Amino acid sequence: METIDQVAVKRGEAEEDSSAPAIAVEDLHKSFGSQKVLNGISLAVSRGETLAVLGRSGTGKSVLLRLIIGLEKPDSGLVRIHGQDIVGLALDQLGEIRMTMGFLFQHAALYDSLTVEQNVAFPLQHHKKEMSKSGQGDRVKQLLAEVGMEGDLQKMPSDISGGMQKRVGLARALALEPDILLLDEPTAGLDPISAAEIDDLVLKLQEEHHMASIVVTHDLHSAKTIADRLALINEGNVVIEGSFEELQNSDIKFVREFLKHS
Ligand SMILES: Nc1ncnc2c1ncn2[C@@H]1O[C@H](COP(=O)(O)OP(=O)(O)O)[C@@H](O)[C@H]1O
Ligand SMILES: [Mg+2]
Repeated sequence: METIDQVAVKRGEAEEDSSAPAIAVEDLHKSFGSQKVLNGISLAVSRGETLAVLGRSGTGKSVLLRLIIGLEKPDSGLVRIHGQDIVGLALDQLGEIRMTMGFLFQHAALYDSLTVEQNVAFPLQHHKKEMSKSGQGDRVKQLLAEVGMEGDLQKMPSDISGGMQKRVGLARALALEPDILLLDEPTAGLDPISAAEIDDLVLKLQEEHHMASIVVTHDLHSAKTIADRLALINEGNVVIEGSFEELQNSDIKFVREFLKHS
């Protein structure tokens, strides 16, 4: 007799595999026209782990995150979320998986015309319709307290600093209790003190929520602070992956050059 699982697999359901890494990309290739951006990248991140993806600007770090979220499709290769390949998924299935991911985009993290409170409430209003208005309100306050922004509910994004905008973006990314967190240059453009505060916050959030996190950055100091593992990419591929010490001890010329200039 078939088990329920076997029947579900036959129907193409229940493909989530709890033993698989939360995020895995395998041999990803992506070009734009004649420009090859990703050239066979493979990476995996488990729950509770933070991977920093480092590289010069223009090396495809943001493209990599967009492929993981499913905003773009690779030319070839796999993107597995909890073991399930998302590359061929229909939009509604993708939407469901995306709800398990929180992300903070590199630019324009917030909706300019919405208050801080409305920005954080946005995912709840769209994806937690069963939640009461007061329940949503309480959750927004709790999320903003978590990032130290509980006093600024009615402010507009243009009235708060860059570091505060990133905090609000983080609160919004956490709204649906994601088990995957993707951050694109969370400290770029911030002064060193605000950047260090964001690093501390990312560390705290990771300790509290045990997500699988990828933080894209070209800030080596930030990567060293927040990540368990670092991956340096160049020319569409991973040059080295390991601890900060392993990068420091590397003989690879590109790694030495990158560290020297960071
Ligand atoms: N939608 C797109 N169309 C054409 N080229 C793109 C697109 N997205 C990214 N690129 C190009 O891919 C390269 C990598 O971009 P990106 O991932 O943003 O780099 P970074 O590592 O700085 O985040 C850049 O040369 C960029 O111009
Ligand atoms: Mg980028």
